Amino acid sequence: MDLINEKSVREAIQYRRSVRVFKKVPLDDKKVKECLELATLAATSSNMQLWEFYHITSPEIIEQIATASFDQNGAKTAQQLVIIVARKDLWKKRVQSNIAFLKSQYGNKPETDYSKREKFALNYYKKIVPSLYFDFFGILGYVKYLIFQIIGIFKPIYRQARESDMRIVAHKSAALAAQNFMISMGAINYDTCPMEGFDSLRVKKIVNLPATAEITMILGCGIRDEHGIYGDRFRIPFEEVYFKL
Ligand SMILES: Cc1cc2nc3c(=O)[nH]c(=O)nc-3n(C[C@H](O)[C@H](O)[C@H](O)COP(=O)(O)O)c2cc1C
Repeated sequence: MDLINEKSVREAIQYRRSVRVFKKVPLDDKKVKECLELATLAATSSNMQLWEFYHITSPEIIEQIATASFDQNGAKTAQQLVIIVARKDLWKKRVQSNIAFLKSQYGNKPETDYSKREKFALNYYKKIVPSLYFDFFGILGYVKYLIFQIIGIFKPIYRQARESDMRIVAHKSAALAAQNFMISMGAINYDTCPMEGFDSLRVKKIVNLPATAEITMILGCGIRDEHGIYGDRFRIPFEEVYFKL
């Protein structure tokens, strides 16, 4: 990406606003794609990267998605759209990718020669991660949850193992990627509007997503119109949300 004139992190964060009206000025697809590449550098739970990014540049598809997004301006006036999708269902595939990556890092040596740390990391993906993600129609998740609550009486334990907890895990990481994307776009004077106001079933049909995929957010993309920001930025006083212990 052209780093000349790119804002500092602080400047990009301050520049970013949710823009509801975009100018009729096209964006460079390549630049938006580069911002999506930066999005994938976000931190992600267990490095599972349970996300996908759909970059919509076709005006016809944008129009269909805008209709499914209740014709809200952030979608209707967008030059491009990005749909951030949480793919909890891909956990087995991601476990395999992590194992393959670790093995490639360890070099060509028998497993018996792995260090303690290397064995731990492999074991993490072979046993711990599957034990959290494996479920059977949500039933096993509840059983695990109850077992963890009982163990938790005696020692610290990871408690969030229900299906709904694992969905949150996937959406949390996907939302971090969304933020990376918005900041990266802001750094190059491109604007975004994060949206959760849409008919998820209709949007999933438009982009051909499987039933198991969940949309975290749709981001309208473009360049802010003069009247594209609806008001001054409002934040609760920092002292009300900051706690130092
Ligand atoms: C998860 C999420 C969903 C949002 N959904 C919508 C939406 O559907 N439509 C919209 O106009 N803005 C939406 N927003 C934008 C918020 O209203 C906006 O971030 C907030 O008012 C703060 O303003 P700022 O982003 O300009 O700082 C959403 C933001 C987030 C993070």
